Amino acid sequence: MSHETQIKGERTFFIIKPDAVQRGLVGEITKRFERIGLKLVAVKTAVATPEHVEAHYTLDPEWKRITGEKTIAGYKKKGMTPPSEDPLEITDAVLKGLKVYMTSGPIVCMVWEGPHAVKIVRKIVGGTEPLTSDVGTIRGDYVIDSYQMADADNRAVRNLVHASGSVKEAENEIKHWFKPEEIIDYKLIQEQVMYAPEIEGVFGK
Ligand code: CMP
Repeated sequence: MSHETQIKGERTFFIIKPDAVQRGLVGEITKRFERIGLKLVAVKTAVATPEHVEAHYTLDPEWKRITGEKTIAGYKKKGMTPPSEDPLEITDAVLKGLKVYMTSGPIVCMVWEGPHAVKIVRKIVGGTEPLTSDVGTIRGDYVIDSYQMADADNRAVRNLVHASGSVKEAENEIKHWFKPEEIIDYKLIQEQVMYAPEIEGVFGK
C-alpha cells in the first residue's frame, strides 16, 4: 500500500457513550463526521460489560499513567489541589467510575475512515474535560462537566464520546470491538471530488 493510500484509508474507533444516546445526540454527533467528509465503515449498538470496558481502556499500558497525569495537570492549571499526586491512584478511581458509566446503557460503536481520521475526529471531539474543551467541539457544545464535579461524586467525567488517540490505539480498539467482517470496504463518490489528483471530468465538465 502506498503512503498516500495509507493516509486516505486511515481508520479511527469511536464510541457514542450512554449519556449521548440518552440525550438523543446520535444524529448530531454523526452528522459532524459525515459533513467533514469522513466515511462510516462500521457501526453497531451494544451494551458493554465491565470486563470489556476495562480491557478497552487498558489496551494501552501507558493509559493509566497518561490519564492520571492529565487529570493532575487539569487541577493544577485551575489552581486547585488534585485528589492525589499519584497518577495511578487517580486512574484506578477513574476506571472504577468508567465501568459504571460505560455499562449504564446502550452505546454506539463506530469506525470512521478518511485522511488523518484519528486527528480529525479528535479535533471535532475536543478535550477530555467538557469544562475546558473548545466551543465548537462536541464536548464543548453539548455538555457541561468537570474533573472537580466528577471526583466530588466519585464518578467518571460524562463527556459523551470516546475517540482513539493514535493510529496504533485505533487499530487495537477496532480489533477489540469489531470482527473484521463487520467493517465494510467501499467507495464514496465524494472521494473523487475531494482527492482525485486529476479533476478533469470529476467536477461535471
Ligand atoms: P475517554 O475519552 O473515553 O477516555 C477516558 C475516560 O475517562 C474519559 O473519556 C472520561 O470519561 C473519563 N475520565 C478521564 N479522566 C477522568 C477524571 N479525572 N475523572 C473522572 N473521569 C475521567
